[in-house]
Amino acid sequence: MNQFRRYPAGLARFVVTITLIVTMFVGLLLGNSHRSPSQAQGATPVTLLIAAQELPYWRPIIADFEAQNPDIKITAIEGPTATNLVEDLYTAAFLLGDSPYDLVYMDIVWVPKFAAAGWLRPLNDRITPTELEAFLPADVAGGTYRNQLYRLPIRSDAGMLYYRKDLLDQAGIKPPETVAELLAAAQKLQKSGKVKWGYVWQGRQYEGAAAMFVEILRGFGGSWVDPATLTVGLDRPESLRALQFLIGTIKQGIAPPGVTTYQEEETRRLFQNGDALFMRNWPYAWPLANAPDSKVAGKIALKPMVYAANYGSGACQGGWGWGIARSSRHPDAAWRVAEFFASPASQKRLSLATGYLPSRRSLYSDPDIIQKYPYFASMLDVLDGAVLRPPIAQYAQASDILQRYLSAALTERLTPEAAMAAATAETRQLFEN
Ligand code: GLC
Repeated sequence: MNQFRRYPAGLARFVVTITLIVTMFVGLLLGNSHRSPSQAQGATPVTLLIAAQELPYWRPIIADFEAQNPDIKITAIEGPTATNLVEDLYTAAFLLGDSPYDLVYMDIVWVPKFAAAGWLRPLNDRITPTELEAFLPADVAGGTYRNQLYRLPIRSDAGMLYYRKDLLDQAGIKPPETVAELLAAAQKLQKSGKVKWGYVWQGRQYEGAAAMFVEILRGFGGSWVDPATLTVGLDRPESLRALQFLIGTIKQGIAPPGVTTYQEEETRRLFQNGDALFMRNWPYAWPLANAPDSKVAGKIALKPMVYAANYGSGACQGGWGWGIARSSRHPDAAWRVAEFFASPASQKRLSLATGYLPSRRSLYSDPDIIQKYPYFASMLDVLDGAVLRPPIAQYAQASDILQRYLSAALTERLTPEAAMAAATAETRQLFEN
């Protein structure tokens, strides 16, 4: 069982992180050497890092900010695509000391760790409770650690079930509520040759699999870690049934064997190419799957995740926001940037370009947004019942453990029982340290 313990994955992550850091610093140096004369003449620099797939959508917002605020110059560094790799970069930079970042673009799951480590500045004296009321409560809660706000939310997120409305309609099948209905619909349409694969989801060993798994856990009445008591529920029968459902989709040929290597983008590409009936993904996939180059444009819909009979649907609560690095030498300039990014106008612009869910409640009834994404109207309800990944300071390690054993079970290197027993034991040990 040793091969599933921390070191091989940890070592690989370490090597990747070091490589990324070197690349990043080289990028930063190159960036500096191309600075404009106005910047050299005293504009306050604000440096930030955004994942590669997101950065293009931020460029126009950054350009607007700079046009309106010539006294601040933003340097945006392109990060890796997977959230855990971006987190590793930040972690390494903060541990090394003199981090280059003023602003920290944070996934909801990093906040407790970054705040507990003292890497962030509290934001409470910069924004009033009344101003915060304009944001969705779960997004604010996800940016709060021990009653201090550390992250200004800019986008919310919730895992959804995408489906081929055209194919289900033709077959006279209602969109599935339960996992049994999903499996039956998939088998029927695969058998009739209408579609190659039934259901695609994120099975690679990375954070996205943990996010996907909490939804299935909720749908089967299982549990991961109770943040209040640190009780671990991965080895409970309900949790095992959740895992067995996922394994079953592979064994029955409903999910492709490659699903154990898929991140969000691999699933989107398959779905967009017309090769899958159902897909689990975040709202970002909607505009892409409906773009003119998509084979399924206009043929799809999305709905809350399926669940086992007698249980309920759960969307994983995701989301991103801006914090200020403790080490920043320009926290006031950084805050002006964060405020601009979180403004209604910037969030609207980002949402219209990407399909990201805004963190401001008012935008869910914005006519332009609703016209482009009619389903946003029902997203507030989905977000209300969303499932959190445990908001604990040890989240990164707990997730790493789950990812390793989940992957071991999905690829049949361990039985589900052995995998979940080991994951439970290792997670308990983590909390004892
Ligand atoms: C999305 C979510 C984030 C999650 C990630 C996993 O970016 O917003 O919370 O951790 O996907 O891949």
